Amino acid sequence: MAKITAVIDIGSNSARMVIYEKTSRFAFHLVHEVKSRVRLPENAYKNGGNLQPQAMQRTYDALENFLNIASSHKVRKILCVATSALRDAPNKNEFLAKVRNGLGLNIKVIDGEKEASYGAIACSNLLPKADAMTIDIGGGSTEFSYILEGKVTNTLSLELGTVRLKELYFDKDDIEGAREYINQELDKLKNIEIENLIGIGGSFRALANAIMKEIKYPLNKLHAFEFSAKTMLSFIEKVMSANEKRLKALHIKADRYDVIKPGSLIILELLKRKSDIKNLITSGVGVREGVYLSDLLRHQKEIFPANFNPSVRYLLDSYITDTNHSNQLAKIAKTIFELLAPAYKIDPQYKKELVIAAKLSPIGSALHNYSSNQHSYYLIQTALEYGFTHKEIMLIATLTKFAKRRAPSCEHIDEYKNILPNEEVAEFLSFIISLCAALLTHRPRNLDYKFSFEDKCLHVSSSDNIYLAKESIRKLQFPDGIRVEFL
Ligand code: LMR
Ligand code: MG
Repeated sequence: MAKITAVIDIGSNSARMVIYEKTSRFAFHLVHEVKSRVRLPENAYKNGGNLQPQAMQRTYDALENFLNIASSHKVRKILCVATSALRDAPNKNEFLAKVRNGLGLNIKVIDGEKEASYGAIACSNLLPKADAMTIDIGGGSTEFSYILEGKVTNTLSLELGTVRLKELYFDKDDIEGAREYINQELDKLKNIEIENLIGIGGSFRALANAIMKEIKYPLNKLHAFEFSAKTMLSFIEKVMSANEKRLKALHIKADRYDVIKPGSLIILELLKRKSDIKNLITSGVGVREGVYLSDLLRHQKEIFPANFNPSVRYLLDSYITDTNHSNQLAKIAKTIFELLAPAYKIDPQYKKELVIAAKLSPIGSALHNYSSNQHSYYLIQTALEYGFTHKEIMLIATLTKFAKRRAPSCEHIDEYKNILPNEEVAEFLSFIISLCAALLTHRPRNLDYKFSFEDKCLHVSSSDNIYLAKESIRKLQFPDGIRVEFL
């Protein structure tokens, strides 16, 4: 696959382009994202689905600009898909030919099943593992699937979309008609009992983003933001009765005012009939990432290799120069955790976060040696994205921030309470990571440490000259009841 690839998704409300750079075989990161509210099927639904000249021109202009941006990023490969608006349009060939001839871009119109499976492939690979139903609310259609034990099943596309409902019902103030039509479509859904609902698409994201602001959520990250079905229902209640001024106060952006109610009504009617859904998970990824991953993982059955995480690998590829050091940190963090955790009653689940934090902790020094822990923290909080819960991301970031002598501050723990473990756990894990960094101060070529643990004391021995390591360890802030001695 090309090093730099663009994926364009011509949705029925907005068209979006993402540009990804591959940093190694399966690792990649987002280098650019652009969207335009082209609303391609505007006024089409009452005209037999026929695309109207103005809307086609807007979309053409946006695509022309997208291609310019792509070439400024030296994109080698462009994958472009279109969904419901073009799928449904009897005059689609006119638009497809115009874009092909004028811009040299081939648009692939995908069917509803394919659209549902692209969204689901993105979620099953790039969100934390969980059985879930996915819903991708678009402008023209809404796709569903189930992710069960990592496998995508029961993909379904319904002719429900925010722009469609707006034009056919909401513009005529026929909310009851919309409700009836939504339910008639939702009847086609296979009902499998499930606790998690993953929300894809602009409408769901707009609601999740507004809820995040409303509850003053501490982490500025939409992807993998979780909240309860109850929270969603009471927020939707407010949205449904709001005028534009109130929508603004509810943190809904102006370009969503006219489609947020149709989108909300789809979710409301779904949650009313599926009371088994308790937990909602926001997806920042969707059809675009699904298209990209299908290409990237085409020899992998569209699944990353076991224990592979694309964000961790991207950070290692891009910011770690001394791989040996990073691996050594991870290795001794694991050993020390396994020795100490049982005695201090630390849940073994934290080993995963600790080891990743240890491995990634030196990344900040790629920006500058001074304040490198601060840089690591920021990089991780921002770029550690795919496959982790917010709790995991915050813990890993926090551990790297305080990986130098000090324990996490009360202010920090307080600011991120609810998404960080309690103070003792954070202090314990942070101490281990600081200890590992200290133990490797002299940057040994080969690891030559032996550890044992007895009477709440970690015994360390080495046949190397570890003068600097000992000096660093003396400066550490020790949690109560932990000692380190050299044999
Ligand atoms: C789509 O139709 O998939 C997107 O345009 C969704 C949206 O609301 O932006
Ligand atoms: Mg879409």
